[in-house]
Amino acid sequence: MYETLCLPPSAAALEDAARRIQCGELVAFPTETVYGLGGNALDAEAVLKIFIAKNRPADNPLIAHVSAISQLEPLCEVSDDARRLMDAFWPGPLTLLLPKKDIVPAITTSGLSSVAVRMPRHPVALALIDHSGVPIAAPSANLSGRPSPTTAQHVLEDMQGRIPLILDGGACEIGVESTVLDMTGDIPTVLRPGAITADMVAGVVGQARVADSVMRALREGEAAPSPGMRHKHYAPRGSLTIVRGSADAVIHKICALYDAAPDAFILAQSPHLPAYGARRVLDMGKNAADAAHNLFAALRQMDELRVPRIFAEGWLEDGVGLALMNRMARAAAFDIVEGEDE
Ligand code: TXA
Ligand code: MG
Repeated sequence: MYETLCLPPSAAALEDAARRIQCGELVAFPTETVYGLGGNALDAEAVLKIFIAKNRPADNPLIAHVSAISQLEPLCEVSDDARRLMDAFWPGPLTLLLPKKDIVPAITTSGLSSVAVRMPRHPVALALIDHSGVPIAAPSANLSGRPSPTTAQHVLEDMQGRIPLILDGGACEIGVESTVLDMTGDIPTVLRPGAITADMVAGVVGQARVADSVMRALREGEAAPSPGMRHKHYAPRGSLTIVRGSADAVIHKICALYDAAPDAFILAQSPHLPAYGARRVLDMGKNAADAAHNLFAALRQMDELRVPRIFAEGWLEDGVGLALMNRMARAAAFDIVEGEDE
């Protein structure tokens, strides 16, 4: 058991954090997407601590975070297209899967021949990696299966006693995790959608596709393109249903479902709030970027309020809306229904 410190990222706290990373300890830190739970990516014992602290299945590999492209050379093979994408989108919410080199321990990549790499854009993350002098393996800093943390308070909820230090950099800007892009095949393929879209990738390297498993449940026995998609994720304790379709149809359907379900809660787009009258509603914001920023905090709030039944309005699956709906669909275990007009 640790006494978990939660500190603002002063110069002294960053030095302390970097020393801990060098000594094989874990530090949670903010990124522009979600908080990460960091350890030295090249130290198998430190990486094992990450899996234990999160209760993470050993077959779900980690992302190695760097603060300079030169740090990548020893870790992986960087193709010309990968370099173009780094130039265009790093630092930023894009993770690239590239062929791994031997220096990366098997535990970091769960035995896979590719390694996931990303350069985050948050100044605290960049400073921590830079001061540590090693690539930092960091999954989202939640207990496995819970919504990812977008504030230091969320990290504390899940990691109190399990890790020595959290750097508190305030709320994360984007709120959903980075795009995971597989660069090991013929066509760059989005395995997990994020703020960098397939269209943005195609704009730089000419082509890109989205894995078709992004918006559906894996079939029984089907191999997951990315191990993280196999695991239950983001789930609130109450059951969540997503309703999609035209605004009127969605509102009408949700009112009917809500009125038949005691103690329910609605997650709605700002302009629709008046339509729900006195029903319990959480405002998710006016667009998909707002809702992505708010989603994980909203799911945690539903847990705190012990809401047994949640009805969420769907969002258009374009731009960051695809990442938002991917996370919502998983949190709902793919319970997605169409709206109904009166
Ligand atoms: O925004 C983010 O990416 C955050 C922040 C902390 O950087 N990190 C994050 O890590 O979301 P994590 O571990 O929660 O998600 C990493 C995802 C998982 O779905 C994992 O299965 C996939 O990336 N992944 C990692 N390495 C992989 C590999 N070699 N092949 C396929 N998928 C991989
Ligand atoms: Mg995660």
